[in-house]
Amino acid sequence: MIDSHAHYDDKKFDPDRDEVLRECVSQGVTHIVNAGSTIENSRISVELARKHPFIYAAVGVHPHEVSQCDNNTIDVLRELARESKVVAIGEIGLDYHYDFSPRDVQREWLSKQINLARELKLPVIIHNRESHKDILDILRNEKASDIGGVFHCFSGSVEMAREVMNLGFKIGIGGPVTFKNAHKPIDVVRYTPLDMLLTETDCPYLAPEPYRGKRNWSGLIKIILEKISEIKGIDYYMVEEATAKNAIDLFGM
Ligand code: NI
Repeated sequence: MIDSHAHYDDKKFDPDRDEVLRECVSQGVTHIVNAGSTIENSRISVELARKHPFIYAAVGVHPHEVSQCDNNTIDVLRELARESKVVAIGEIGLDYHYDFSPRDVQREWLSKQINLARELKLPVIIHNRESHKDILDILRNEKASDIGGVFHCFSGSVEMAREVMNLGFKIGIGGPVTFKNAHKPIDVVRYTPLDMLLTETDCPYLAPEPYRGKRNWSGLIKIILEKISEIKGIDYYMVEEATAKNAIDLFGM
């Protein structure tokens, strides 16, 4: 099982991080991509990857945090990305739901970080909330299809999924597909070919049912795999194998 998007740097794991990570391995988790959200968290992400053989890091600044970026940000990210276990730039994107950073600043730093990813030939991990049109425009303008990546915790419609895949991006599926009234994510899973899907937790957030609201962790990828298998009517182990291959190929792990 692969968790293509986790936040083990989060302080919710401070009391028992090593124990949780050991339990992930014993539950059959083979790879975890720990996503950065600030410069500081990106640094911790790299440290976690150094310490644990099964953890890989993404470095980047989340749209919520881009107001803190300055003239050094890209240089620092470039330096962090020298580490061989840095497999992506992320998570980066736009969030027009919370608008924690001004929208023009969000767009500016998304473009800059895509450019860095192109320079480093790394895929990008995209966070997108209520910004479908702008994010597709920026990905097209910045030629992001050269590097590809994943729309993490995909929240759009089937039409949006089609556009995202046309740009060469994969679709990340996590806890929300198990929520009651999850019509859109279920339609997206049904529509999306198995070779375009990645599994993820976004832990400690977005725990799947029946753990919704509790602390999430990578062992619960099993529930996401079961749900995909049920929606698509495909054998669990085929789903596990295919989604693992997709993540390994995308991130070069
Ligand atoms: Ni995340």
